[in-house]
Amino acid sequence: MTDVPVPFELVPPNFVPSRFDNHIQRRLSNMQGQYLDQQAYHSLLAEEDRLLYQVYELKRPELAGELLHGISIVHPGKVGREYYMTKGHFHTELDTGEVYYILKGHGFMVMETPEGSWAVEELCPGRVLYVLPRWAHRSVNVDPQEDLVMFFVYPGHAGHDYGTIEEQGFRKLVLEQGGQPAIMDNPRWSLPGAP
Ligand code: 6PG
Ligand code: NI
Repeated sequence: MTDVPVPFELVPPNFVPSRFDNHIQRRLSNMQGQYLDQQAYHSLLAEEDRLLYQVYELKRPELAGELLHGISIVHPGKVGREYYMTKGHFHTELDTGEVYYILKGHGFMVMETPEGSWAVEELCPGRVLYVLPRWAHRSVNVDPQEDLVMFFVYPGHAGHDYGTIEEQGFRKLVLEQGGQPAIMDNPRWSLPGAP
């Protein structure tokens, strides 16, 4: 972490930052219970604990006023008919938004509020997506070959609440249907607090 402003480069073709403080690798085993087709999940995992996505972070003090930023790279692949995706999370500090700038690839951002409102936005190079405060977010790579690469920025004090999503999942899923990505209801999802 620097105490003077220091630039860094996003180096194509994968835009890995020329300088980073933290490198996170998420594998299939980190996604227990998240994929709809649990049989496909367990048979893939038995073969290999594949790398699904990576995050390169430029660390800053987790304080309001600071902006945490970095690169998220979701690799291509599927579990059953469901595409490789990030765990997804609300920010612990619910009233904190996030900006994504898409550098490469093709995907979707699946989003929802605690009240169950949902949105799914397509991601393609050059597009900017502002994830409003209170909206959980998960990125999904629907390209069979290419990585989905995004630059992200969010407030230093936001934090990550993975537990809520691990428990209830997202209302919408992105699966392959007839060779194309299709957005469908998650049969395992129910309105938080509903009986
Ligand atoms: C964040 C960002 C982003 C996110 C990655 C990986 O709040 O830090 O949304 O960096 O962490 O895209 O996704 P998961 O955090 O859901 O694994
Ligand atoms: Ni976030």
